[in-house]
Amino acid sequence: MGKVSVSLLSSDLAHLADACNMINASDAWSIHMDIMDGVFVPNISYGFPVIEAVSRYSKKILDAHLMTVDPSRYYQRYRDLGISWLTVHWETCPHLNRDLQEIRRLGMRSGVSINPATPVCQLEQAVHYADLVLIMSVNPGFGGQVFIPESLQKIRELKEMRTRKNLDFLIQVDGGINDQNATELYEAGADILVAGNYIFKAEDPLAAIRAII
Ligand code: DX5
Ligand code: ZN
Repeated sequence: MGKVSVSLLSSDLAHLADACNMINASDAWSIHMDIMDGVFVPNISYGFPVIEAVSRYSKKILDAHLMTVDPSRYYQRYRDLGISWLTVHWETCPHLNRDLQEIRRLGMRSGVSINPATPVCQLEQAVHYADLVLIMSVNPGFGGQVFIPESLQKIRELKEMRTRKNLDFLIQVDGGINDQNATELYEAGADILVAGNYIFKAEDPLAAIRAII
């Protein structure tokens, strides 16, 4: 029914190559890398050396989700490390249109994400520059949190905005996704589901991925 991005955040980072090889062998669409700076979100994940390592092992699209202040300082560096879909947060970009255009100019697909407390209408003036819009269905910062049900209505609103404006960006949803809520998320309008904890805690991660596609 849709595409799956596997978030590495819940994988065993001491065995990163194993996680990459599992994802390479799966039906997942991309590897989702959560970049956190301990400022915008209350956690620090990983940075450039880890992206470089994943890039070496990955045969999938690399999709980075930047939870960092002042992200534009490093767009080119992410591109050079092999990131092809780059998503920034609306809350960190006062000049969002410029950011999204710059990401495209560098040859990447541009994404914009909104926190659970940010309404979809904030994107009215920027979605024309986005190839992807990411609806956060948990407050960003940690894997393994519980899905916020109000996110479903935001997905519907975003889909309505896309139709009204005759655009074709992809709708991605991230946080607390599993085989219990995947179907209703696709029905609401999601194109790509990000999942971490559900996949890496599963006995059979390949089957877990297949179950939410
Ligand atoms: C949270 C991250 C998510 C997270 C998803 O800040 O953006 O990508 O890793 O993990 P789960 O699927 O465990 O909620
Ligand atoms: Zn994410």
